[in-house]
Amino acid sequence: MQTVPLDFLGDLRRTHDCGALRLSDAGKRVLLMGWIHRRRDLGGVVFLHLRDREGVTQVVFRMDADAELHQKAELLGLEYVVAVEGVVDNRSKETINPAIPTGEIEVVCEKLWILNESRTPPFPMEETVDVKEEVRLKYRYVDLRRPRMQRNIILRSKISLAVRNAMYEQGFLEIETPFMTKSTPEGSRDFLVPSRLQPGTFYALPQSPQIFKQILMVSGFEKYFQIVRCFRDEDLRADRQPEFTQIDIEMSFPQQDRVFEAVEALVKASFEVAGFQIETPFPRMTYAEAIDQYGIDKPELRLPRFYRVEDIFATSDLPMGGMPLVAIRIPKVGAVSRKERDEIKAFGQERGLRVFDDAKRLERDYPEYMAKVKERCGILDDDLVILAGWTGEPKGPKPFDTVLMAAGQLRLHLIQRYADKHQMLDPKVFKFTWLTEFPMFEWDEEEQKWNAAHHPFCSVLDEDIDKLQNDRANCRAKSYDLVLNGNELGSGSIRIHRRDIQAQVFDALGLTKEEAQAKFGFLLEALEYGAPPHGGIALGLDRMVMILAGEQSIRDVIPFPKTNKGTDLMCEAPSPAADRQLRDVGIQLRVKPPQK
Ligand code: AMO
Repeated sequence: MQTVPLDFLGDLRRTHDCGALRLSDAGKRVLLMGWIHRRRDLGGVVFLHLRDREGVTQVVFRMDADAELHQKAELLGLEYVVAVEGVVDNRSKETINPAIPTGEIEVVCEKLWILNESRTPPFPMEETVDVKEEVRLKYRYVDLRRPRMQRNIILRSKISLAVRNAMYEQGFLEIETPFMTKSTPEGSRDFLVPSRLQPGTFYALPQSPQIFKQILMVSGFEKYFQIVRCFRDEDLRADRQPEFTQIDIEMSFPQQDRVFEAVEALVKASFEVAGFQIETPFPRMTYAEAIDQYGIDKPELRLPRFYRVEDIFATSDLPMGGMPLVAIRIPKVGAVSRKERDEIKAFGQERGLRVFDDAKRLERDYPEYMAKVKERCGILDDDLVILAGWTGEPKGPKPFDTVLMAAGQLRLHLIQRYADKHQMLDPKVFKFTWLTEFPMFEWDEEEQKWNAAHHPFCSVLDEDIDKLQNDRANCRAKSYDLVLNGNELGSGSIRIHRRDIQAQVFDALGLTKEEAQAKFGFLLEALEYGAPPHGGIALGLDRMVMILAGEQSIRDVIPFPKTNKGTDLMCEAPSPAADRQLRDVGIQLRVKPPQK
């Protein structure tokens, strides 16, 4: 495809990056390298915007100064890679570009090396141009050159460094754990890797380093961390990738507070790097409070909580069948059309809620009840108020929680629907909370059995130990989440370090001794060799960077992400394996791979 003669890099060395030069550099001889970001050809003069990681500098070629050089510059196309040597000159007043930091100068070129040419890029580098995500992912090498992605990936790198520094400063050691391992207990499907040396057997890629980090505590390392890739074969969304990065932490002899302190330090440092000062310690809320006030375990705290109102209506004889149980308030929404109300009603109904009609009508017909609701929720004139009750009998071990959780979904739906429109969620306001005292167990209606709500190694609150046997619905774990603006940023627990208690938990989960042994035998055995009390947490690095970069999807802060179907569009993975590879690992396919 070569269309222009190319030069060698030789021993050329740049003197500055493309974001460095200022008025004070005028008169200096400089050598810059980078990509042609923009070009303007005004006949006798060619203007180039030369771009590298650090910024953009204007370079000029004047025909009357050097016709041969000017002619060479005319060969250049967008995204060509060049080196230029020249002298820094201040721009005339009318040509100053205040939009870029180098906008007061330009480099008058005296020598030009064309290091490589480029096909016409599939889309422009300008941020303002919207490009379909599939195209961006297919040409990811070009997409990553765009300023937004450069900013995001550079921010990610800086945050990783801030995390490392914060952890080292607190005495944590960075220790690696294996990727080719055995199934981990995070509850998703594993990605399997077939073994050639032992055909018919498989490694599992780790869903998290959970078991290894616990074993590192048994081995006496006391404070471990790792910025580590994890792999989960689960349904993908904007905040989920099949491979993602955790900041994984474990420590010995901790109370929950010690874990919180360590995390607060690293989160504070990460936010500082992104230019935000945050206050620590973060506020706390129990799981029960979160369900009671927000109907969800990752509450969006930038908007008001909802309130239970069943007591207000308890004595009423409302002729409307059923009673309002929860009042949801979304501020500043203003008037809502009939169509919107019907849609809200339908959303609630699908989740078992009975959404009461217009609060304004209720106010007219039942002013005394509504006055109480208003006072409790702090309702103002422009607010949207939705009262919700339940249709039929709610199910589950804690029926009222079922109602609250459905109301929580409705609140979220309303937030998503109206927040953007009314700019109610400021992305630069960061509302953190520690969520504590999660339930230890979760009732599986389908299988009619208890599952571990998080994983089976969480210890139980000291005062709830008896409930392991006789009140599993109310048995709380020493587990916690870090929640930020409605996102689960991290999750962890104080672990079980005693073999006898671990056996009781497995028993409660209906796991036989043999099953427990087959799944986690090596951990159980390790617990018998002097395991110290220990606990930890893992934060989602991708999610934290996403929030700090002001992005809506973790795909925009991961250099090479997968689509929601788990495909890497650039390298076209996954792809069929060659017959020979399958034979080597003793695999015969039960399905035909798709034809491309
Ligand atoms: P958990 O499964 O909650 O806990 O994961 C911890 C954090 O990792 C992030 N995360 C993800 N990010 C992107 N894509 C995914 N598919 C994905 N899955 C999880 C979230 C989440 O809060 N071993 C325990 C931690 C512990 O107990 O120490 C664990 O992995 O931000």
